[in-house]
Amino acid sequence: MFNRIGVIGAGAMGRGIAQLFASSGQQVQLFDTRAEAIEDALQFNRNLLQRAQAKGKMTETELEATVARMQPANTLTDLADCDLVIEAIVELLDVKQKLFADLEAIVSEDCVLATNTSSLSVTRIASTAKHPERVAGFHFFNPVPLMKIVEVVRGERTDERHIQALVALAEQAGHFPAITPDTPGFLVNHAGRAFGTEALRMLSEGVASVQQIDRILRDGPGFRMGPFELFDLTGLDVSHAVMESVYEQFYHDPRYTPSFIAAQRVAAGLLGRKTGQGFYRYEDGQKIEQP
Ligand code: NAI
Repeated sequence: MFNRIGVIGAGAMGRGIAQLFASSGQQVQLFDTRAEAIEDALQFNRNLLQRAQAKGKMTETELEATVARMQPANTLTDLADCDLVIEAIVELLDVKQKLFADLEAIVSEDCVLATNTSSLSVTRIASTAKHPERVAGFHFFNPVPLMKIVEVVRGERTDERHIQALVALAEQAGHFPAITPDTPGFLVNHAGRAFGTEALRMLSEGVASVQQIDRILRDGPGFRMGPFELFDLTGLDVSHAVMESVYEQFYHDPRYTPSFIAAQRVAAGLLGRKTGQGFYRYEDGQKIEQP
């Protein structure tokens, strides 16, 4: 079992992953190239835990112990003693490969390197590693503490021992681990093309408005959110990168063609909740108007 976990990237996903494992008893060190992102993430997690405590879900002592288990890392070398490092940085193959190369010079040979990539090939991320057998996918969903499922992705060369160790870790933290092969989009983001990419196609063809599509898919088949609400939660930059990556990996199969609407909106910074405006507008995290 892993005791000391390094989390790299303190954005939407990294902070959630840090909180999940600190809550289940592991020591977590959080690193980001932007020091202010780490500070922000730790404060964000403290606020969430305080809300849970106010609702009687944990004692003051448990709250303080959980907060104390999340420590900032000032540099990558602070992660030298970790037995698992999970990266949740920007969704770019070469950046993730470089990060793992840097880490391999720092951590011990037994340390497992996991990637939270949504859509890049785990095998390709591992292909430039000195020890590709220690690289696996560990794909969480946003918000991590609430979305109690995680894909454990088996790259072509991932050691089965590490897959089983990640499965055990996820179960111990109360998440359901779904072991998936390393195919484009794994399970969730492959099936999700029909939801997200197709909704954008409907919008570009003028079939229906953002609000109509969201409402119908929520109230009809009963999805918790419509596709545009989900884009706003995930961040359109992240979702668009997934669309492009899945399209590339399926050799430009037209079924997966990404949307120019999404490309334009990413260029304009209309990313969703994190920039205050996406398909909807937000103030203090609350949807404020239907544009
Ligand atoms: P984000 O943009 O909220 O956070 C990324 C963080 O990584 C930023 O704070 C940035 O400063 C930091 N960063 C970037 N490059 C770095 C580097 N080389 N070293 C250290 N830190 C670096 O992104 P988000 O949404 O948390 O996504 C992160 C990863 O998780 C991506 O691979 C994404 O595809 C994946 N993912 C995202 C989901 C979502 O719903 N947002 C769901 C599942 C996976």
